Amino acid sequence: MSTIRSTVDTRSEEFAENRESMLGKLAEIDGEHAKAIAGGGEKYVSRHRKRGKLLARERIELLLDEDSPFLELSPLAAWGSDYQVGASVITGIGVVEGVECMISASDPTVKGGASNPWTAKKSYRAADIAAQNRLPVINLVESGGADLPTQKEIFIPGGRIFRDLTRSSAAKVPTIALVFGNSTAGGAYLPGMSDYVVMVKERAKVFLGGPPLVKMATGEESDDESLGGAEMHARTSGLADYLAADEEDAIRLGRSIVKRLNWTKQGPTPKPDYAEPLYSAEDLLGIVPTDLKVPFDPREVIARVADGSDFDEFKPLYGSSLATGWASIHGYPVGILANAQGVLFGEESQKAAQFIQLANQIDTPLVFLHNTTGYMVGKEYEQSGIIKHGAMMINAVSNSKVPHLSVLMGASYGAGHYGMCGRAYDPRFLFAWPSAKSAVMGPQQLAGVLSIVARAAAASRGQEYNEEHDAAMRAMVEGQIEAESMPMFLSGMLYDDGIIDPRDTRTVLGLSLSVIHNGPVKGAEGFGVFRM
Ligand code: COA
Repeated sequence: MSTIRSTVDTRSEEFAENRESMLGKLAEIDGEHAKAIAGGGEKYVSRHRKRGKLLARERIELLLDEDSPFLELSPLAAWGSDYQVGASVITGIGVVEGVECMISASDPTVKGGASNPWTAKKSYRAADIAAQNRLPVINLVESGGADLPTQKEIFIPGGRIFRDLTRSSAAKVPTIALVFGNSTAGGAYLPGMSDYVVMVKERAKVFLGGPPLVKMATGEESDDESLGGAEMHARTSGLADYLAADEEDAIRLGRSIVKRLNWTKQGPTPKPDYAEPLYSAEDLLGIVPTDLKVPFDPREVIARVADGSDFDEFKPLYGSSLATGWASIHGYPVGILANAQGVLFGEESQKAAQFIQLANQIDTPLVFLHNTTGYMVGKEYEQSGIIKHGAMMINAVSNSKVPHLSVLMGASYGAGHYGMCGRAYDPRFLFAWPSAKSAVMGPQQLAGVLSIVARAAAASRGQEYNEEHDAAMRAMVEGQIEAESMPMFLSGMLYDDGIIDPRDTRTVLGLSLSVIHNGPVKGAEGFGVFRM
């Protein structure tokens, strides 16, 4: 039988403790999400409303099909930086007239919706997701353009936003701009490069240079409306394809454009008759130990994520520190690789490489569930070729062409993060649980390595080693690495696509798989040289 039988004792003290700790972390993350939702704060939100405008999130809500989900991406972008959490833009995937679209809405309540370096990074990520998954793009535009004091970080790389729009169009994936307000200078190319443009009457302002700049450049006297008003663009320049009477009308027009796209997904359709998991997602709160050094069985997670809790394990008797096997999620077939005991040995690496190749042979997406401290170190392992074996797994992950999804459940350290398809290995989506931690190694280990190196350096210089300084250095480094390994920090850096409630894992993976299937799902024809 391939149905997983859970052995989690939901009444145990340990379960209650784990649950308590996970709920605490979730509350903390909710608090940070609330900051992103609050946008520029009360003063700017009420000013925006007084102008008779909808908030960016309200625009998105009206655009989406009623009661359909919105998979928001990178909501904590810019966390820990000098900029507002969320980075003055909202990005995510939502369903419009039955079509999954990448939606990007600047938030005019945060610094006039101007793009700072984090806004740019978040927009690049959204553009990559749209391109990789063949998603039509809808931009809801109202922005002050580049954040002028930080222009040096965005001006030159930022050109890719416009490049991506026109490449999307060249790939026959439509792009739509709904312009609600200011869209000046570089921003004018958002509608300029889009296939379809809607502008709101008396609100949209699209020009390369506003009246003061024109006066400076040519001496010409002008006004907003004649330079870049919606009426002018609809009747004279032809940049606007549709003139909307108001914001609601612009959203209605946007929806009717999508309705006429004749969009069809290119990936295989899911099986319609799948079963729900046999165990409650609620249990996922109590499965991850508070101390990540204690391993947990990822099959307990799979039992709450996979259809019917059904998991056909591949090579169950070999390389037991990594579980590999076949399952389906919301009717989409997947291969799953899940760390079971933390460390990856040679056997696990070879098993992973074989399994990844098998998935490519049958065009099946892969899901990586991370909880690893990395590849095994030590004389015995080096001599038996752990580098070659790890490289084999990393080769397979790098050259695999089926879509990958990664979920950081617990630890994701060292090259283990790479082998399990970390951020640099281009998983289509990467989400983290609040319990996740990721770094080159654990904080104590890293501080310890620095201490050993410093001690050896002092000895080679013939100096005495100052133990007091060593202890202080270790404490400081441990604190720093601990902070930098936390999910909010990593999410702020755009190293994941969002921190999710473990209970939502099945839903989020299901939505991601559905999004992925907008494009074809095809395995690799060949891999690089595997070092045997
Ligand atoms: N860079 C940095 N900060 C900007 C900005 C930009 N491009 N655009 C606006 N801001 C800031 C303002 O300084 C203001 O900050 P403060 O409230 O802390 O003083 C805040 O955002 C709100 O701007 P405000 O002008 O009060 O908002 P508004 O809604 O009345 O007008 C704009 C919004 C975008 C029309 C107006 O700010 C503007 O014209 N900005 C410059 C646009 C431009 O020419 N950009 C160049 C693009 S390359």
